[in-house]
Amino acid sequence: MDRITVTDVHKTFQLKPGQFVTIDGQSTDSVTVLDGVDLTIRKGEFITLVGPSGSGKSVLLDIIGGLTQATSGKVEIDGKVITKPDPKTGYVFQQYALFPWRTALANIEYALEVRGVGKRERTDKARYFLSLFGLSGFEDRFPNQLSGGMQQRVAIARALAADPQVLLMDEPFAALDAQTREILQSELLRIWEKINTTVVFVTHSIDEAIYLADRIVVMTARPGRVKEIINIDLPRPRDGDIRSSTEFNGHRGRVWEALRDEVNKAQKDWALSPVYAA
Ligand SMILES: Nc1ncnc2c1ncn2[C@@H]1O[C@H](COP(=O)(O)OP(=O)(O)OP(=O)(O)O)[C@@H](O)[C@H]1O
Ligand SMILES: [Mg+2]
Repeated sequence: MDRITVTDVHKTFQLKPGQFVTIDGQSTDSVTVLDGVDLTIRKGEFITLVGPSGSGKSVLLDIIGGLTQATSGKVEIDGKVITKPDPKTGYVFQQYALFPWRTALANIEYALEVRGVGKRERTDKARYFLSLFGLSGFEDRFPNQLSGGMQQRVAIARALAADPQVLLMDEPFAALDAQTREILQSELLRIWEKINTTVVFVTHSIDEAIYLADRIVVMTARPGRVKEIINIDLPRPRDGDIRSSTEFNGHRGRVWEALRDEVNKAQKDWALSPVYAA
C-alpha cells in the first residue's frame, strides 16, 4: 500500500531583490531547484535519497514534511495533500536540535506532551525509547552532558516515541565519527524493523544508503529530478558484515555509476553560480 506520493513537484526560489545568479551563461533572479519529481513510497518502506550537493534533497524532504510549499505539484501522505507539517510525520536533522534546557528524558517527553499524552504514560514511553537506544541511566543528563552520538540517539528516540507514520531524516549521522555512525545505522534498522514506520533518509554516503535501504532514489544535479531508483534486495535483518559481501559491492558500483555524472555536473554548476559557493 502506498504511503507517500510525490507528483510532479517543482520548486523555484525567487532570489532577494537585486540578487542574481548566472546559470548556463544567463543571469537570473530565480533558481529552479526541483524540476518535476515523481515518487511513490510504500507503507513501511525504507527509502534513502542520494544526489550531489544542491540537488534539492533537503528541499524535497521539507516539502514532504510540509515545512516548505512546492511551487507546483503535490505531495500526499495516505491520500491527504500535505500543505503544512503533519503531527504524524517526524523529523531528524543533521544537527541534534534538542532543547538544551531539558534533560534527555524531558526532551522525549516533550514530543509526547504536545500530542496530549498523559504524564505517567509519557514518562514510561520516554524511558522505554531511551532504553531502546541504550541510554538507560542517562535520563537526567542535559544535551551538553551527552556526546554527539548520544544526542543524536535522543533526537531519534524523540522522533520515534511520537509514533510517526513517516520519519524524515536529513543526514542524521553526518556529524558523527565512523564507528558511532555504523552503530547507529544498525540500531535504527533494528528498531525500524519492529515498528513499520516509513522512512525517507538523506545521505551522502553510498554505503549508508545501501545498508539501510529497500530502495535508493538517486537525484540528478540541480534542477533535481529522480534519475534512477535502485532496488536493494539484500536480506533482512542486516548486520554490518553484509558490507563486505559481493552483492553489496555490486550495489556500490551501480549507485556510483548513477551518481558520477551528476556529481560532475553539480561541480560545474557551483563554479558558475556564486550562490552555490556559499
Ligand atoms: N530558501 C532558499 N532560497 C534560495 N535558494 C535556496 C533556498 N533553500 C535552498 N536553496 C537552494 O536550493 C538548492 C538545493 O538545496 P538543498 O539544500 O535541497 O540541496 P541538497 O541536495 O540538500 O544539498 P546538500 O547535499 O549540500 O545538503 C541549493 O542550491 C540551495 O542554494
Ligand atoms: Mg541537504
